[in-house]
Amino acid sequence: MEILILPDADAVAARAAGIVQDMVSHRPDAVLGLATGSTPVAMYRRLVERHRAGGLSFAGITTFNLDEYLGLPEGSPLGYRRFMREHLFDHIDIDPANTHLPECAPGADPRTVGPAYEDAIRSAGGIDLQVLGIGANGHIGFNEPGSSLGSRTRIKTLAQRTVDDNSRLLGEGETQPGLAITMGIATITAARRILLLATGEHKARAVALAFEGPLTAMHPASALQMHPRVRVILDEPAASELAQQRYYHWVEEQNESIAARHGGSADEDPWFHPSVDERDD
Ligand code: F6R
Repeated sequence: MEILILPDADAVAARAAGIVQDMVSHRPDAVLGLATGSTPVAMYRRLVERHRAGGLSFAGITTFNLDEYLGLPEGSPLGYRRFMREHLFDHIDIDPANTHLPECAPGADPRTVGPAYEDAIRSAGGIDLQVLGIGANGHIGFNEPGSSLGSRTRIKTLAQRTVDDNSRLLGEGETQPGLAITMGIATITAARRILLLATGEHKARAVALAFEGPLTAMHPASALQMHPRVRVILDEPAASELAQQRYYHWVEEQNESIAARHGGSADEDPWFHPSVDERDD
């Protein structure tokens, strides 16, 4: 786990966009795992700007989103495909056929979606970089507290806290769905690299429990402690309950000086250095 604390949400978005850009540049056929929610929106905006400015192409990229609500009426504005199109897909050169969400077609048995999604991820070669937010209750994807740490993509009943948190985005006459299909915790932690973003004081407790608390299914993000390549990027309010903040800053300085001495560009996140081909792990 490498925890980077930056002054504000803008800096978090810029650094996160840089990491995604590094991945796409080093591996133009990369498989990205993507998140919805308010946290990554600013990062997507920067990726769109970098694409428009030239030099960042998503033409060979494949994406798998973490989750999708189940039982939404067709064309619902709450749908995550719509979210992804609005914030990213419609503004870059990605092939829509290569963008995947765990969607359940009308009339289909939702229980078949998870295994098919797992097959699709496997056939694509696995996820190279998974982007995550974190719920105030510690969820990643829609793996709510109590989710098995060995879970795979499946139907999940949302916790009341999640329903309440996400209701803030509802338009008039819309109701918050209570079910979703989500990548499991084992699906997420099978990604070769993981980038978790959190901004705002309302995430501080969840962040501290995830990275300085015990590994427990009651706080699903704590499962990331078992993963060898996790980059956590926080703004100061989201980091405010971490006990080891000074140490994380110190580690970062060391990483930067190692990168300066042994290779790695100034614009590149020292964590990203692609000297190891994780596909061989
Ligand atoms: C989104 C997702 C969720 C969010 C989390 C934080 O696809 O799976 O885990 O990342 O609920 O949401 P925001 O960013 O809205 O605070």
